Parts: sequence; C-alpha cells; structure tokens
Amino acid sequence: MSQDRTPAAAPIDAALQAKIDRLHAFVDDIAQRHPRIKLASSLAAEDMVLTHAILSRQLPIGIFSLNTGRLHAETVAMIDRVRERYGYEIEQFHPQPEAVDEYAKAHGLNAFYESVELRKRCCEIRKVAPLNRALSDVDAWVTGQRREQSVTRAELHEQEHDGARNIAKYNPLADWSEGEVWAYLEKFDVPVNPLHARGYPSIGCEPCTRAVRPGEDSRAGRWWWESRDSKECGLHISVSTVQFAPGAA
Ligand code: ADX
Ligand code: SF4
Repeated sequence: MSQDRTPAAAPIDAALQAKIDRLHAFVDDIAQRHPRIKLASSLAAEDMVLTHAILSRQLPIGIFSLNTGRLHAETVAMIDRVRERYGYEIEQFHPQPEAVDEYAKAHGLNAFYESVELRKRCCEIRKVAPLNRALSDVDAWVTGQRREQSVTRAELHEQEHDGARNIAKYNPLADWSEGEVWAYLEKFDVPVNPLHARGYPSIGCEPCTRAVRPGEDSRAGRWWWESRDSKECGLHISVSTVQFAPGAA
C-alpha cells in the first residue's frame, strides 16, 4: 500500500488562530471592496483554504478553475467534492479547441517537453487565454500563491495591482507556511485533492507534474525538466504585476 505523504499540519496555537482570523477578515474586506471579484482555483490545498473561507462565510466572491484538458482525474473530481460539501458549482474555463488542435498539429500534443518556448506556448493556450476570459468581467482576483513556494514568489505581496488587466490582485496566503495551510484544512475538515497525500505538494497538469521525493523542493515536481527560474506558466507574470497602491483598487 502506498504511504500517506500528507504534509504535517502546524499546531493551532494563538499565533495561527490570529492568522486565521486575519484571513477571514481579509476576505470579508475584499468582498466588500469589490462588487466583481473571483478566486482562481487550481483545486489544490491553498485554493481549498480560500474556497472554504469564501463559501463558509457566504461571500459574493466567484470561484473558477482553468480546466486545461490535461488535469489529473483527481483534480477535476474536486469540482464534485466542492459541490457535495458546499453546494457550489465552480465555474470552468476551457481552452479554445481550435488553438489546441493547431498546436498539436504543428508541434505534437506533448511538445512542451521539447523547449521552454513550446511549453510556454502550451500554457498560453491552455491556461493564460482562458484566464483572460475568466477575468474579463471582474475588477479584482484572488490567488492562493505563497512566498515560500518558489524563488519567483519570494517578493509576493498580499495586495497587488495587475497592471496587464488594470485590476486588483490579492494573495491572502502570501505569508502562510505549508504547515499552516494544512492546519486550516484539518481544522475545518476541508476536502483536499488526494494527490497531495501521494507526494504532490504542488499540482498542475498531469504530464507536467510529478510527485516529489522527501526533502525535495515543493515545486520540484512542476516542469521538472526545466530550470527553477523558468517555472511559471504565465498566470502570474511579474512584469505585469506591480505593488498595490492604496486607493487604486
Ligand atoms: S502555476 O502558475 O505554477 O501553475 P500554482 O499551481 O503554483 O501556479 O498556483 C498558484 C495559483 O495560481 C493558485 O493558487 C491559483 O490561484 C492559480 N492557478 C493555478 N492553476 C490554476 C488553474 N488551473 N485554475 C485556476 N487557477 C489556477
Ligand atoms: Fe500544457 Fe503542461 Fe502548461 Fe498544462 S502545464 S498547459 S500541459 S505545458
């Protein structure tokens, strides 16, 4: 039988309880500030923390997922688990079939292994273009990014301005640790993607994600054939994101 590799949860002490209270106040506040706001959910652990924070508080923050067509079955099944638990239907955005076909014909379905350029092109078609559609009718969006996740996220702010779309962007878990994420999920008995327990701390598309070995970096399993600093898919391009200016949202 495979070993359960669910990450260890931090103890819920006074400091973590204060962080949980602050998170809830933070999502309450951004829901009030923005009449049109959505959470981008990959259906992984961090996004399930935010999903619970939003749905258990009945906040008017929409939740969508980019269904790239290459996700693990376990990830897609999380949409059913959210419906069962919260009675909420996560909105799905799919890539344009013509663009997917064109890429496959020109380069091959799995050409993303051949070069960073072809990998980014696939992410552009399957993730970024659908993200642009998902965000076309909002004035703010929310992500589950954390600083600890990657060198490219070390400077992440809780509040930013997405300059490319001219909308606000919030990363409420920016200063959360993995242990704190798991403590929250356990405390509120939130559904989680079973892949986490099989050694997947970070979950993307199936052909581009592998389990990590004990001691490996949490994103070591993402695009593992590439160098650490190219590991972003374009959903969170730093050049288009500048620090939030109070009053600009
Ligand atoms: S990625 O850029 O490397 O793919 P990662 O998996 O770490 O991102 O997730 C960071 C945040 O990006 C998530 O918390 C979520 O807000 C958003 N995100 C990533 N993948 C998706 C997806 N398939 N659908 C919606 N949002 C996503
Ligand atoms: Fe394509 Fe892989 Fe990017 Fe998914 S993660 S969109 S399969 S290159």
